[in-house]
Amino acid sequence: PTAKAADARRSIPYGSAVRTDLLVTEFDYRAAIVDYCQLVVGEGGLKWFDLRPSQDQFVFDQPDRLIAFADQNGMKMRGHTLAWYGAMPEWTQTIGSAAAAERELVHHITTVVGRYQGRIPSWDVVNEAIADHPESGATIRGSIWQERLGKRYIELALRTAAEVDPSAQLVINDYNIENPTQQCSDRRQALLDLLRDLKDRDVPLHAVGIQGHLPGDMDIDRDGLSKFVETVKEMQLDVLVTELDVIDNKLPAFEYDRDQLVAARAREFLEAIFDAAQPSAILTWGITDRYTWVPMWFKRDDGKPNRPLPLDAGCRPKALMKVIEEF
Ligand code: XIL
Repeated sequence: PTAKAADARRSIPYGSAVRTDLLVTEFDYRAAIVDYCQLVVGEGGLKWFDLRPSQDQFVFDQPDRLIAFADQNGMKMRGHTLAWYGAMPEWTQTIGSAAAAERELVHHITTVVGRYQGRIPSWDVVNEAIADHPESGATIRGSIWQERLGKRYIELALRTAAEVDPSAQLVINDYNIENPTQQCSDRRQALLDLLRDLKDRDVPLHAVGIQGHLPGDMDIDRDGLSKFVETVKEMQLDVLVTELDVIDNKLPAFEYDRDQLVAARAREFLEAIFDAAQPSAILTWGITDRYTWVPMWFKRDDGKPNRPLPLDAGCRPKALMKVIEEF
């Protein structure tokens, strides 16, 4: 489909994480993004590691280029991410006190959100705040922010972002909540508790991002996920799918079968969400199997390339793209 055809058909915007450097070097990659996407999000670029090589520096080249590309092509850009335990530059280890942490976090968010004020309509303000194993006691994941400020850093980040850009959709984004395991159910509960607490205290927050890095070999907990989305909606919060892909390292080798299973898993996931409510956006974490983070963590034993994304390595649509186009 052309971009315009895709625009006209879709009621819910679709988008992808983008590797900004490739937009100028790989024409078919750029064309795929333009043809299919109404939304883009930098796969990197706005992470601390990329933006903040040193304490007194902000390097905005990548996000500046991505937002210009989005503007040129009639797309919107999402911002990812302001407070995360990952992709932190070394120097942040020297942030020694609560006062210093508060100063740094506020300075960062004020500068970054301020630069794009009114131009980035949706921000993953806090990414992956829930602990991997909340049942073991600590429900908030460790990070420099959590260690220095406690869970108060979440509220601080949201309030700061809201002050700088009152028009932006502020999102708490997390993963590993969709499978029928005790861990997922504990993580859903911990996330709901956090949201409830923030809402009760009128902290500005508008939506929950469900990343959706789906293990291909595990069922979706349809009821658990639907119930989760319902509860989120009852709190007057939206949901969006922010990083969908299907981790296919344990799926059969034969590509045709694998692509069908990948697509079916994503359909199961999207159906469970849509059973409860329409998400305000669906984004995949990359668009072509040529560029995916999946092999960094989930390489296949047989050495065959992973196929987690809607287009194959040659940017041809696979079954997963058809599923996304159904929603
Ligand atoms: C990943 C990127 O895809 C990689 O290129 C990078 O090296 C590490 O981060 N959840 C997230 C994303 O919220 O930011 C991660 O992105 C993938 C998992």
